[in-house]
Amino acid sequence: MCGITGYVGTGKASRYVFEGLKKLEYRGYDSCGIAAIDDIIRVKKDTGMIDEIEERIDLSELPGCIAIGHTRWATHGGVTVENAHPHLDCSGTIAVVHNGIISNYKELRKELEKKHRFTSDTDTEVLVHLIEENYKQNLEEAVINTLKRIKGTYALLVISSEEPDRIIVARKESPLLIGLGDGGNFVGSDVSAFLAHSRKAIPLDDDEYAVITGNSVEVKSIITGKKLDKDILEIELTEKAAMKEGYPYFMLKEIHEQPSTITSAQNIYPEEIRTVAEAMQKAEKIYLTGAGTSLHACEVAEYWFSKIAGKLVVAVDSSELENRAVVDNKTLVIGVTQSGETYDTLSAMRFAKKMGAEIGVIVNVIGSTATRFAEYVIMQSSGMEVSVAATKTYTSQLSVLLRLAIELAKLEGKDVKVIEKEFSSIPDKMRQVLSIEDEIKGKADSFFNVSNYLFIGKGINTPTAEEAALKLKEITYLHAEGMSAGLLKHGTISLIDENMSTIAFLPSDSENSAKMLSNIQEVSARDGRVLIISQGKVDEDEFISLPDTSEVLSPFIFSPVFQLLAYYVAVKLGRNVDKPRALAKSVTVE
Ligand code: AGP
Repeated sequence: MCGITGYVGTGKASRYVFEGLKKLEYRGYDSCGIAAIDDIIRVKKDTGMIDEIEERIDLSELPGCIAIGHTRWATHGGVTVENAHPHLDCSGTIAVVHNGIISNYKELRKELEKKHRFTSDTDTEVLVHLIEENYKQNLEEAVINTLKRIKGTYALLVISSEEPDRIIVARKESPLLIGLGDGGNFVGSDVSAFLAHSRKAIPLDDDEYAVITGNSVEVKSIITGKKLDKDILEIELTEKAAMKEGYPYFMLKEIHEQPSTITSAQNIYPEEIRTVAEAMQKAEKIYLTGAGTSLHACEVAEYWFSKIAGKLVVAVDSSELENRAVVDNKTLVIGVTQSGETYDTLSAMRFAKKMGAEIGVIVNVIGSTATRFAEYVIMQSSGMEVSVAATKTYTSQLSVLLRLAIELAKLEGKDVKVIEKEFSSIPDKMRQVLSIEDEIKGKADSFFNVSNYLFIGKGINTPTAEEAALKLKEITYLHAEGMSAGLLKHGTISLIDENMSTIAFLPSDSENSAKMLSNIQEVSARDGRVLIISQGKVDEDEFISLPDTSEVLSPFIFSPVFQLLAYYVAVKLGRNVDKPRALAKSVTVE
């Protein structure tokens, strides 16, 4: 899970690549580096965040009009300068950056070590020495012959001072897009790497490679060597999406964007929703699958499909789908993935496809891998999400999934007017919640002063509790668990003491809220401190009061509250909110 980018043209390449790396930093940020060719290859690389490295070694200052760069999230080998990319061959004439995992690197290294000098612990370094080994007089040929011996996954950029006008790029199960610019061409792990200079992209598919020069791009099949005609994607995203616009962190900006991102999801063409709802109606078995926050969106939707459409839809952790699900040619598997690049979710979708299932995907990133092999694609239209912690993309996923449940219910002849009307009021209700931000910040200051937290909910807010716990954990590094309120008494309640506080999500008057109140009493009776996030009136000391909705739509109203709580606790603790330690935005490894 890393970001790679390159440029070849008439401009100062290291500057373009540095800009691209800053945009890709969300994909990994423990070290980075750039290689550029002037007359020879020069490399600068170091550990730390990109801006720190720039300050220390002027990373963006390398001569030449061709360069490649890499921002790393360590997989093979620790966080050291030696393990940072780019990697060079023994003669210093070939440089490589790589995102992915070479699974047969041990055998290859053993073989190559007889002749080549290795300087890092990475799997990637075998690539550059193998290219060196295969290099006769043609870099393209050397790369292709190398790839034929490689097992694993890769997005790969290769340059050589012997052929200083071209970047050879290749892809297998790791994302790579080529950006077409004026006076030069770009390549990146996603479009954000070159969005400031190019709105035209060619996404590479698996087993494809390309030869990119300043004024030409030639895409070919790695398997047949034949030239391929590729569609050019026109990108509508604006660069503004990647700016903080006065907010101290992207996360806060993205939390505040939710009323408008939900509206965008509400405006997705009805035909797109209907096509998938029809496929759901036909399918005998339906699975929703995703990871982390996206899995929680699937779990909320599981309730909607059952309560609104009367249809059994099962939400499965994508890393477990192959172990758990019964998949055949009467099954529909819908992947839910913001990035469209999460390894576990792509693997689950690939497995399902192999078993004959139909594949759908709800996805945010244009041109991402998931969009390239699903039969049904719904773009959730949330705009770029930069913060590692997913916020606006979660409520957009919820919006798309709710629309699917409503559409399916309509196909089944059910009356959904009431819920449709109420759903249209959600962006305004969300604005009301965001208007009490100061009160929420106050609770983050006064309530969050222990090191362990339990989040509890019931029914459709069980996944709300799980998502709230995930948000707190990932950006504050405090321990939290989320579960159904009913489960608490079956073991976890024994943890309640002065170091464990409980946060309860209490929807408007409903059977579930009455039951929740007695679960809350069970915690209080054991001297547990409780914060109630409530849509109704409560007779407790610690509470946050929210606008009313029906219980079925309450996950929308609770979301900005737990997101802001996590955000302000993280700020109070001095965490790097947008880039929490050990995490990256897309987890492209197993
Ligand atoms: C959310 O805050 C996390 N960063 C993480 O759990 C994320 O939702 C998960 O990795 C799945 O990502 P995806 O939606 O891009 O597939």
